[in-house]
Amino acid sequence: MPSIRTNLTKLNQKAPVILAIESSCDDTAAAVLKNDTILANITSTQTIHEQYGGVVPELASRAHQQSIVPVVDAALRQAQIQLSDIDAIAYTRGPGLMGSLVVGTSFAKALSLALNKPLIDVHHMHGHILAHFINEGQAIPSFPFICLTVSGGHTQLVVVHSPTNLEIKGSTIDDAAGEAFDKIAKIIGLPYPGGPLVDKLAQEGNPDAFAFSKPQVVGYDFSFSGLKTSVLYFLQKQTAVDPDFVEKNKADICASVQRTILDILFKKLELLVKDTGIKDIAIAGGVSANTGLRQRLMDTGNKKGWNVFIPKFAYCTDNAAMIAMAGKFLYDAGIFGNQSQGAEARLPFLRSWNQ
Ligand code: KG4
Ligand code: ZN
Repeated sequence: MPSIRTNLTKLNQKAPVILAIESSCDDTAAAVLKNDTILANITSTQTIHEQYGGVVPELASRAHQQSIVPVVDAALRQAQIQLSDIDAIAYTRGPGLMGSLVVGTSFAKALSLALNKPLIDVHHMHGHILAHFINEGQAIPSFPFICLTVSGGHTQLVVVHSPTNLEIKGSTIDDAAGEAFDKIAKIIGLPYPGGPLVDKLAQEGNPDAFAFSKPQVVGYDFSFSGLKTSVLYFLQKQTAVDPDFVEKNKADICASVQRTILDILFKKLELLVKDTGIKDIAIAGGVSANTGLRQRLMDTGNKKGWNVFIPKFAYCTDNAAMIAMAGKFLYDAGIFGNQSQGAEARLPFLRSWNQ
């Protein structure tokens, strides 16, 4: 199949300028995209939650309210465009924290009314997946490809048939992979968000030091809550004997936990690749920043002859560039939102463009 980038370039006589807004969790972000090139990508990360061991929804929405205008303003300045240059406004309608989503959604709707420009409502995970098409000269996956989406709220195996035809093959039945990283990090006394810290410590540890239980889930679905419980009970037992056990073995615990999470992910990913014969394999979402995951995908890809696609770090965790890119594909497909749509904390994956 020819590259989608070539097709889109031919289709677009005038490249639309899209302003995108992302406020689903604890990052207030705005980006400007022209055709498939990012002109600006600004993220304001809320650090206030660190002291509480997790995101506090009320504090998150207040911080979004304070940041949204300066963040959008900074994006417009960096892109060197005026409000009048914008052709459409894309925003994350869901899923996420309601109070956080409402800030971005209200801002996008108000701007759309004021400028008389169309709204594009984007599903957050759609954005994570389509971030692979942001044009920075890198190789892009051919359709259909498989995307393993791993974030703080989602863990899914998706077959991407086209930018607007995505088929979810498997999902977590309990915790998401990022949630498992964060919850286990909390058990061993690391601050929120624990995922990047577990990643860092794991690099110094032995992944075979400790064995934790793995779920027995059929098909392509995942489960991570049993791992969390297995780590908790193991550490309770060990610290009863040696109160300094965690402190002495932190790196080995992190390496063993990370290895188990990767084993769970790759068991299902490899099964789906085997069953579908698809060889273009991508990862997306915050956990795709994980060093061990990136390395394992490259190693497995080399061994099995896969073409692997790993997002650059800036497009792994939450950002508005990915919302702009998804917005651009929806714009090209003529799929727009409207003023009567509100934010949805549990927005189903395909609903935003099938309704
Ligand atoms: O996509 P994202 O920024 O927000 C959501 O949509 O949830 O993902 C955040 C998640 C958090 O659970 C965070 O701990 C995890 O991604 N994460 C990592 C790493 N960087 C971020 N997990 C493991 N290793 C990392 N390097
Ligand atoms: Zn995300």
